[in-house]
Amino acid sequence: MRVKTRMWVALGVTAALVAGCGGGSGDGLDANGRPVGEGTDPNGPMTASFASIQAHVLTPACTGCHAGASAPRGLRLDATNSYAMLVGVNSGGVPSLKRVAPGDAANSYLIHKLEGHQAVGARMPLGGPFLDAPTIALIRQWINNGAQP
Ligand code: HEC
Repeated sequence: MRVKTRMWVALGVTAALVAGCGGGSGDGLDANGRPVGEGTDPNGPMTASFASIQAHVLTPACTGCHAGASAPRGLRLDATNSYAMLVGVNSGGVPSLKRVAPGDAANSYLIHKLEGHQAVGARMPLGGPFLDAPTIALIRQWINNGAQP
């Protein structure tokens, strides 16, 4: 009897939690189930969302070179252009690889460049300091989750 009561209490709590998340509609949540806009403060923690990657990595560490008409390999990484120039676009260095292949971080040229795989030449950001492993892991996670905007 006591066990049964506990079970109903547990079910009630679960139902309340689901209801608290807007009934699972996903409104206001990004592809990772995190609130939209979370992680975009460059002084706060980074998340595996594109907006957070832009704020924490692309804008501060890449746009010194990858911006404007003379961006290396035509790759602009400023907030206005980066998504369209990365996701689903063949890389210049190894055209058989997409810069970002949604769902497939292991075959995304961006990851090869950030990790400095020998076959792809210079590691990014060129001259360093390079991204640490947890940061690259979040970028991998974003790609493997489908590289949502
Ligand atoms: C100091 C200048 C500089 C900085 C900073 C820099 N890059 Fe680069 N990047 C280059 C140059 C030059 C190339 C072209 C040569 C090459 O492919 O290695 C390049 C090429 C690339 C390519 C290959 C594009 C292709 O299609 O072949 C990627 C991807 C890339 N950079 C990503 C980044 C990212 C992401 C950052 C920031 C984390 C970054 N780079 C920071 C200079 C820079």
